[in-house]
Amino acid sequence: MTDIWQPITLGRATLPNRFVMAPMTRSRAQYDGTPGPLVAEYYAQRASVGLIVAEGTQPSDDGQGYLMTPGIYTEAHIAGWKTVTSAVHAKGGHIYIQLMHAGRMSHPDNTPHHRQGVAPSAIAPGTGMFTVTGMQDIPTPRALSIEEISQTVQDFRHAAKCAIEAGADGVEIHGANAYLIQQFFAPSANTRTDEYGGSIESRARFAIEVAAAIADEIGADRTAIRFSPGTSLWGIDEGEEGPDLYRYLIAELDKLHLSYVHIMHQGNEQLLSDIRQLWTGKLILNRPGRPREEIGKDVVSGLSDMEAYGQMILANPDFLARLKADAPLNEADRNTFFGGTEKGYTDYASL
Ligand SMILES: Cc1cc2nc3c(=O)[nH]c(=O)nc-3n(C[C@H](O)[C@H](O)[C@H](O)COP(=O)(O)O)c2cc1C
Repeated sequence: MTDIWQPITLGRATLPNRFVMAPMTRSRAQYDGTPGPLVAEYYAQRASVGLIVAEGTQPSDDGQGYLMTPGIYTEAHIAGWKTVTSAVHAKGGHIYIQLMHAGRMSHPDNTPHHRQGVAPSAIAPGTGMFTVTGMQDIPTPRALSIEEISQTVQDFRHAAKCAIEAGADGVEIHGANAYLIQQFFAPSANTRTDEYGGSIESRARFAIEVAAAIADEIGADRTAIRFSPGTSLWGIDEGEEGPDLYRYLIAELDKLHLSYVHIMHQGNEQLLSDIRQLWTGKLILNRPGRPREEIGKDVVSGLSDMEAYGQMILANPDFLARLKADAPLNEADRNTFFGGTEKGYTDYASL
């Protein structure tokens, strides 16, 4: 029987256990998107998990949504991330950088170029966002032209190259949580009538092009992707065809032999088991709010190869040691999730 404490080979890396730190935006990069020494310390503290998936990181100016999120497309970003990956590797850990293009989930006040956000279609998400001047409504984005979609694919490719240059073990494409890639999936956000909108094949096209371009650039064995099928965040509605879109998408991506697919489960058990069948590679499963008693169950049952945990690892740098010792866990403090200093970031106590 396989259990979560056993090693696993993922792409080019052999990991000592099957715990994954889920990607979590912490908004502690410098204003230009460069992660500093505090970011390196935070991830190094958590390097005993098999794989760290670092927070959503923009591939371009257009890709930024929130304040103080890291980027991975300039020389300064590469230098900053090098300190992070070196610190994690020095502790024997492995780290993928999550490439996140926010699409319409962006406010011009938060981006370096202060331009209108971009999206499949000019439809606002109908929500607000924190900016330097406080909460503001997110304005209606501009629809990307076909040429700009190609450029965005190239931006992802370039960012993946930069991530590898910065010493990352791979990249995870953020196809979840209502950001650009999922905006293409959802008819509520994508009303295009060209080859990127309409049918399932057309709405899935952008995600597949991004994955194929990155796999071509850095190798499929260092390229991964995350989805949250069926999420209803921020105006995203994938409609009745949603599950079939994912069945198609996963079957297409399977042909690329990526390092892994990461599912942030939203509750459709049938779809999850279909994905497990359709995807012949490694699967990481994150079940939001999964209680401690259930840790390891999905690996034992064979539903997934690895399990990702977010808030428990955020709050417990020595998560694995605590589980082994059957020790109590620190609670995550929501007030310090986004932005700020070492408080609620690198100062969670270890045993
Ligand atoms: C503070 C915070 C930031 C997050 N940022 C991201 C992100 O950048 N990318 C992403 O894919 N998911 C993000 N998530 C979702 C987590 O990866 C994870 O799916 C979620 O926290 C549920 O798992 P958990 O109950 O184990 O925490 C974030 C979650 C939290 C709490």
